[in-house]
Amino acid sequence: MAKEKILVIGASGQIGVELTQALREIYGNSNVVASDLREENELLRGTGPYVSLDVMNKEMLHVQVIRQNITQIYLLAAILSATGEKNPGLAWHLNMQGLLNVLDIAREEKLQKVYWPSSIAVFGPTSPKLNCPQQTIIEPITVYGISKYAGEFWCNYFHRRFAVDVRSIRYPGLISYKSSPGGGTTDYAVEIFYEALESKKYKCFLKADTYLPMMYMPDAIRATIELMEAPADKLTIRTSYNVSAISFSPSEISNEIKKHIPDFEVQYSPDYRQTIAESWPQSIDDSIARTDWGWKPEFDLEKMTRDMLRNLDGIS
Ligand code: NAD
Ligand code: SER
Repeated sequence: MAKEKILVIGASGQIGVELTQALREIYGNSNVVASDLREENELLRGTGPYVSLDVMNKEMLHVQVIRQNITQIYLLAAILSATGEKNPGLAWHLNMQGLLNVLDIAREEKLQKVYWPSSIAVFGPTSPKLNCPQQTIIEPITVYGISKYAGEFWCNYFHRRFAVDVRSIRYPGLISYKSSPGGGTTDYAVEIFYEALESKKYKCFLKADTYLPMMYMPDAIRATIELMEAPADKLTIRTSYNVSAISFSPSEISNEIKKHIPDFEVQYSPDYRQTIAESWPQSIDDSIARTDWGWKPEFDLEKMTRDMLRNLDGIS
């Protein structure tokens, strides 16, 4: 393997912590530089280099890329769907300008590869609800979804026009226990575990029967690394790949948790996030990712729930 030096931007976030850990396992601690606006996450402290970095400051980003001899960037800094609706201008600015800064620098410095995640939020109310295909009607209603869809086409443009090897996945809602989620509509599926363990009660901000595509973090990290390691000539999608794992509703995940915590109770009090959730598909067709780079999820709802509870509280 050629010597790689990786910069993870947004390394203190829900995905960033676990992705940085996984990349350090593969490439060696000193070859993966974690960076964020926030302070370094405690799980990463002492495990490798950390720099404080604002992706919006292109000059400073460029200096770091040159100074650290960076060959690959994983760009995770973004504002997610629910927080984005509270400040649409800021969400658009960060999600677009951050990506353009990284793509420009990747082109100028001839970086080996760039990773940038998109989301199921690109889909809107006119997209198919079940097994939503890779290519279909895409009319997002959130600023987050609009920014992700525009970002996908910037990635495609930089690949076609400037040969930047940028790769992307449309993640479903991600469930994890190492670092808290950052303001998405799917965050209920993480909160529910903490509340079940702490108070045995949870007030859910989505309706009981709201099905959404979801994935457990170990699957998401593996998908990311498998896509990034795939031979470039196998990749037929240069916008962003659909990937899929599990589809469940708040009612289904509550029932699964009740198998371990029988007196757990959930109340439903839908808020503005219900409209966002209802605009997204309930399940995703990821057959192109399966064909192109062999994607296959490992965790279903039952296995994920057991693993979450075991890791959060030792329940088996
Ligand atoms: P997060 O909010 O948990 O983490 C984002 C990190 O970026 C935070 O630590 C934040 O401090 C940092 N950041 C924000 N502004 C920054 C700036 N200007 N410069 C540097 N860092 C900055 O988000 P996440 O859940 O880890 O998501 C990472 C990426 O994956 C995002 O692009 C998101 O849209 C995408 N995604 C996430 C999910 C999910 O369920 N978590 C699903 C689909 C797509
Ligand atoms: N989990 C993300 C969100 O809810 C999906 O991109 O915003």
